[in-house]
Amino acid sequence: MNAAACAMTRARDALTDLRPKPDDITADALEGLSRDPKTLPSKYFYDAEGSRLFEAITHLPEYYLTRTELALLEQRLPSIAQAIGPGAHVVEYGSGSGRKTELLLEHLHAPVAYTPVEISRTAVVQATARLSEHFPAIEMLPVCADFTRPLDLPESARPAQRTVMFFPGSTLGNFTDEAAQALLDGMRQTMGPGGCALVGIDLDKEPALIEAAYNDAAGITAAFTLNLLARLNREIGSDFDLDAFAHRAVYVRERLRIETFLVSQRAQTVQVGGRRFDFAQGEAMQVEYSHKYTDARFAQLAARAGLKVTHGWNDARDWFGLRLLQPL
Ligand code: AVJ
Repeated sequence: MNAAACAMTRARDALTDLRPKPDDITADALEGLSRDPKTLPSKYFYDAEGSRLFEAITHLPEYYLTRTELALLEQRLPSIAQAIGPGAHVVEYGSGSGRKTELLLEHLHAPVAYTPVEISRTAVVQATARLSEHFPAIEMLPVCADFTRPLDLPESARPAQRTVMFFPGSTLGNFTDEAAQALLDGMRQTMGPGGCALVGIDLDKEPALIEAAYNDAAGITAAFTLNLLARLNREIGSDFDLDAFAHRAVYVRERLRIETFLVSQRAQTVQVGGRRFDFAQGEAMQVEYSHKYTDARFAQLAARAGLKVTHGWNDARDWFGLRLLQPL
């Protein structure tokens, strides 16, 4: 059923379910483990335990991203709201950024609707249930969908002046350039010709600062990375020995990204989905990228997706940026 058909039968604030193909963790894990070098997809970090650990990361002294972006939003939202204009339908890919969303909705001029888009039905419904209490005048239109593809948005009861896609947190940084370009291209199609996107990006800076953010002294990031293996063990019955892998995160400045690996501490064999995979001692399995951006690199990425950067806001130290994008 398409979005319009759903909308006709949808009660106010009810879910638009675009029936995304469910994740196949086993197939994705087997595919990654069959590559050389081995990889596992970072999108599987965020089960309940992984989300709890990420929340803990955002409070670490070394992890500057979240607090810098929040402070930037608090300070610059008046001018961001000016640039976006009144009567927006706010669309957020993912629904894990509670406080940032609240700040945006508080500062925008008379926004008409809010749509979180997530593969998890319960997550989108919960996000809007919580927000609708704070924002009774904003129509909540959650969508269950795979946000890596363009989608038909539900229409708000009051017509929106403009669709604004909100993608904070440097989540874009977890995508390879190719995937980030496809994601931005899909956003452009979803927002339509008059739409815009507000994207948070972590900026290139002194490598030691970046590396510290992904190698915190308390070891929370290591626990977060290793939880990926624990999750696979829990959900697909693999037998990764968590004590036999170590977290390693390195800033590779030529590629402007943190590359995170789980390094096998000894020669070992792991069983996943009924297949066996050999790891050599010291073998590094790639599990996450966190890309950092220069203005040139981000503008180029946007242009390849048919978008131009119309506005930008950085914190005073140029550590983190928000960019407003519009179709070319
Ligand atoms: C929330 C995905 C942007 O890449 O900085 C934090 C995830 N990984 N520490 C990031 C993460 C390790 C985070 N993102």
